[in-house]
Amino acid sequence: MTSFSAPKGVPDYFPPTSASFLAVREALAEPARLAGYGYVELPVFEETALFARGVGESTDVVSKEMYSFNDRGERSVTLRPEGTAGVMRAVIEHGLDRGQLPAKLYYAGPFFRYERPQAGRYRQLQQVGVEAVGVDDPALDAEVIAIADAGFRSLGLTGYRLDITSLGDGSDRPQYREKLQAFLAKLPLDEATRTRANLNPLRVLDDKRPEVRALMDDAPLMLDHLAAETRAHYEQVKGYLDDLGVKFTENPRMVRGLDYYTKTTFEFVHDGLGSQSGIGGGGRYDGLMEQLGGQPLSGVGFGLGVDRTLLACQAEGLTPGDVTRCDVYGVPLGETAKSRLVGLSGELRAAGVRFDLAYGGRGMKGAMKAADKSGARYALVLGERDIEAGVAQLKELATGDQQAVPLTDVVTTVRKALDR
Ligand code: HAM
Repeated sequence: MTSFSAPKGVPDYFPPTSASFLAVREALAEPARLAGYGYVELPVFEETALFARGVGESTDVVSKEMYSFNDRGERSVTLRPEGTAGVMRAVIEHGLDRGQLPAKLYYAGPFFRYERPQAGRYRQLQQVGVEAVGVDDPALDAEVIAIADAGFRSLGLTGYRLDITSLGDGSDRPQYREKLQAFLAKLPLDEATRTRANLNPLRVLDDKRPEVRALMDDAPLMLDHLAAETRAHYEQVKGYLDDLGVKFTENPRMVRGLDYYTKTTFEFVHDGLGSQSGIGGGGRYDGLMEQLGGQPLSGVGFGLGVDRTLLACQAEGLTPGDVTRCDVYGVPLGETAKSRLVGLSGELRAAGVRFDLAYGGRGMKGAMKAADKSGARYALVLGERDIEAGVAQLKELATGDQQAVPLTDVVTTVRKALDR
């Protein structure tokens, strides 16, 4: 019979790596909680139109990568490709925009994009994200960026940089777009690139092909065409980043794959990951809420890739989290001993000790091997003679040191030993 595999491009996480996965997700979320962001748990599917309108019809994400289908009630729904549109939908629907502002929210979970799978590019990807809605203060842009940076740093990561730029807004981008289009019109572009240039000229700035890059050397840049107000906003963001001690590189050619961005945009790029090097990105999206039928309120946020951050940790030789399964491993020699250790397992776990034991009637040798493999610090060995003497043997696996512990004191002794 043929067996099954996971859907193409979708990672499975299982022990011991899954412990690092959880630790990364936790490390990326903790700085958000410290800054007053509250958790939201939102649906993994939404009405298709939400993403079409929110993320933008011309983006690859919407035009090529969405998992959309009709449900049994003939409604078109889509597995969420990103988090911001859903958060805005929830903010509007539940009136969070009429409460205290900014509404500060964070989320963690899976997102779905039908991309061509490769190392670090998955069709089910995991993000930790934050959104701060309703206050247009450049200090908030800096806060959001600093939260992401703190998460990466808390994992011990060092091999990444932060790129920032400003994409302008309704007050200056239309004029800039015209300038860029006029520039592009004079270039000898191939058919496909010409079509892209007409649809979304900014995307051409990000073209990776050397021959197109060379042509784009003298292209006008948004950063040189900011209106006075957006320029001042951007300068303030950079000032606050300096206050926060967050280092950044200005990258005026940065292009994001989602249409809603205005003003500050940023990306964290890790240099140990090959082509899929973006470990997180975000920015301001001041028109989005109104576009989704809400009030004209501003917003700023990020999405950090948990999968890629884990890969970045691995590339730097870091193993976040505790990948061991247990602290103490029980080795019963005989049926009476097994019954005693099964009884102790409940007591030890209730006292917060991670305890496992050799099931399946393995002999001493096999059970000790299993103890080593489990990552436990101690083995708790119990034989017939020990029971007669009223003790168990607590053996430190790294050193081989062993002490007899009265059966009545096992829980307290083990707790003390583990605190050492
Ligand atoms: P994004 O840049 O599309 O932004 O995704 C954020 C992060 O998710 C990326 O930097 C990357 O680490 C990870 N990611 C994206 N696609 C994949 C993939 N196929 N495989 C593995 N990891 C991936 C957003 O999604 C915005 N919603 C972020 C945001 C929030 N902007 C404002 N608020």
